[in-house]
Amino acid sequence: MTQRTATTDSSYVRIFDTTLRDGEQSPGCSMNLEEKLRVAQTLQEMGVDIIEAGFPAASNGDFEAVQAIARAVDRATVTGLCRAARGDIERCAEAIKPAKHKRIHTFISTSPLHMKYKLQMEPSRVLELIESSVSLAAGLADEVEWSAEDGSRSEHDFLCRAVETAIKAGATTINIPDTVGYTTPDEYHDLIKMLFDRVPNIDKAILSVHCHNDLGLAVANTLAGIRAGARQAECTINGIGERAGNAALEEIVMALKVRNDRMPYTTGVDATMITKASRLISTITGFMVQPNKAIVGANAFAHESGIHQDGMLKHAGTYEIMTPASVGLTKSNLVLGKHSGRAAFRSKLKELGYDLGDNALNDAFTRFKDLADKKKDVFDDDIIALVDDEVRDH
Ligand code: KIV
Ligand code: ZN
Repeated sequence: MTQRTATTDSSYVRIFDTTLRDGEQSPGCSMNLEEKLRVAQTLQEMGVDIIEAGFPAASNGDFEAVQAIARAVDRATVTGLCRAARGDIERCAEAIKPAKHKRIHTFISTSPLHMKYKLQMEPSRVLELIESSVSLAAGLADEVEWSAEDGSRSEHDFLCRAVETAIKAGATTINIPDTVGYTTPDEYHDLIKMLFDRVPNIDKAILSVHCHNDLGLAVANTLAGIRAGARQAECTINGIGERAGNAALEEIVMALKVRNDRMPYTTGVDATMITKASRLISTITGFMVQPNKAIVGANAFAHESGIHQDGMLKHAGTYEIMTPASVGLTKSNLVLGKHSGRAAFRSKLKELGYDLGDNALNDAFTRFKDLADKKKDVFDDDIIALVDDEVRDH
């Protein structure tokens, strides 16, 4: 499997997974070391290019987890997050040392609001810290990523200067987070394009997008950033992350696959591992995936209405835009409920090994509809009981 960020393919989008850092920051999502290692192995197996394994200066536990992942992962690049401070950067460098491919990811805020209230720093001081932090990191790892926290709410002139400073100091990936999930697809597209148009030497770096989901736009904004030229997308499995979460890896990957006609970009992710990765994360964190969640929700490939089931039995393309197999599921699920029709009922009976004549089928179908009116979920065992009664009565 090809991994690593070096590629000559200009349509290749690097997948930077931050499930273990930004994802783990969501309340109630913390994982222990053994769990983090299982997640990292799965991410590597599925072809993620960069794994953000944690925030080494945050705690000893985080440091140890990043170090253990750095030892275990050999194909993907391993990175850890750090503030623009010597102590953080050195701690991160130490944690990722065993990795075959090491990246330090350092960040500082660039928006007026964050600089004034959070950092309480003048913009000129922020520029100094960008220069010193990136230069320090560049001497301690194979590559440096620099992030402009709250980048989407930063003033354009200042953001351009900050990005230029980071590139001059040695950053080879420049990430522009929509930290609070505030931007819109058009605006974010224009912001990324503006950086390409205005920052000198921007071609020396890969531009990266990192979107939060406060307005439910994280994936749309990520795709807009890619369309504008970004070639790294930061995301998490199941979209877990601070507040409303981060852009969901599975949605980005499948959007690029399914709509490759409109978005001709590729990733190295083996999409057939998506379901496995999603289940692993929800089992470990205890965070259930909402049933109607795109790609990995329990209902993503389920059909209950009679009209849809009839269409599905004739041609799956009528109501599915991707196959269940493409994301690692064995088959679609024709759910039997009060909206289901005779065709799906007959098909279910066949699957269960029954071959009823027309009259028996009609009677069984009437009983099934009565049952479905009273019962929210009709399981295979209910159908079996119902048909056995039908057979016994005749
Ligand atoms: O959302 C954000 O701004 C971040 C950065 C620290 C990369 O997670
Ligand atoms: Zn984030």
